[in-house]
Amino acid sequence: MIPGLRSGPDAISPTAHYTGQVWVRNGLSAPELGTWQGRLLVDALRPTMALSRALGGPSLEGLLIARHRIIDAELERSVEAGEVGQVIEAACGMSARGWRFSARWGGRLAYVEADLPAMARRKREALARLGPRPAGHRVAGLDVRRDSGPGSLAALAAELDPAVGTAIVTEGLLTYLGDADVLALWRRIAAVLRRFEAGLYLSDLRLAGTGADPVEGIFNLALSGFVRGRVHSHFRDEEDAARRLVDAGFDRARLHDGGTHPAAGGGDPGAVLIRVVEARLR
Ligand SMILES: C[S@@+](CC[C@H](N)C(=O)[O-])C[C@H]1O[C@@H](n2cnc3c(N)ncnc32)[C@H](O)[C@@H]1O
Repeated sequence: MIPGLRSGPDAISPTAHYTGQVWVRNGLSAPELGTWQGRLLVDALRPTMALSRALGGPSLEGLLIARHRIIDAELERSVEAGEVGQVIEAACGMSARGWRFSARWGGRLAYVEADLPAMARRKREALARLGPRPAGHRVAGLDVRRDSGPGSLAALAAELDPAVGTAIVTEGLLTYLGDADVLALWRRIAAVLRRFEAGLYLSDLRLAGTGADPVEGIFNLALSGFVRGRVHSHFRDEEDAARRLVDAGFDRARLHDGGTHPAAGGGDPGAVLIRVVEARLR
């Protein structure tokens, strides 16, 4: 195990170091949000990803960049349209989205980044190194598994203005949850967003229908080893996932396809493995 990376309840946190470094490498973040653990992990995974790429398969980086850019584009569209004035980015890790969006929209957008307490602390320290932030940008401790009480999504949302359209983002989280936990989380998110003038939920999702390709099998194995646990894909297809989102309490839902979305960038077969959920209330 790489020293300094945790095991236990937040064993998936190492992946936040990895993705944090991927965002830095690809101009989607600032060096202050990268970590030495992230740099080590990028180096450790390089040979496996080079092999997958050489076999014409997906690279993890291609998949990650597609999902990050699509979520950026969809969130940006809703902020620009005036539908969203508050964001809770749950499981934010070392992503720079909160920093980038707050810098761009300043006082017009309240942005709460949230993660398990240890990661939230690390994020707060990293952001402090980037200098003063707009008043509406902050980092909070959160455990998405909690229904209520301190550190729950419900408690975080209670601090926001119900008259303002609100988005909840989860990026890179659902892969580590089984179907039942994903559905429980979606019910929790829909109930929280119901309190606001309008609600938007954005998240990446890997459909269970994909993954039969042998190269993708190697890729999934590498990913599972990397996070020291099983990685999950969910539900049969787009229609099935959208129906379950509505069953969980959203008014409507659609899935964006990483293979065709204009923001995905294209080029890497990893992009086709990803879908981005857009689920709305009102
Ligand atoms: C793969 S990382 C993704 C980080 C970031 N969203 C990104 O895309 O770069 C997964 C994140 O989920 C967080 N996480 C895991 N379990 C959580 C929980 N129960 N509540 C809140 N965050 C959690 C981890 O700490 C980690 O930062």
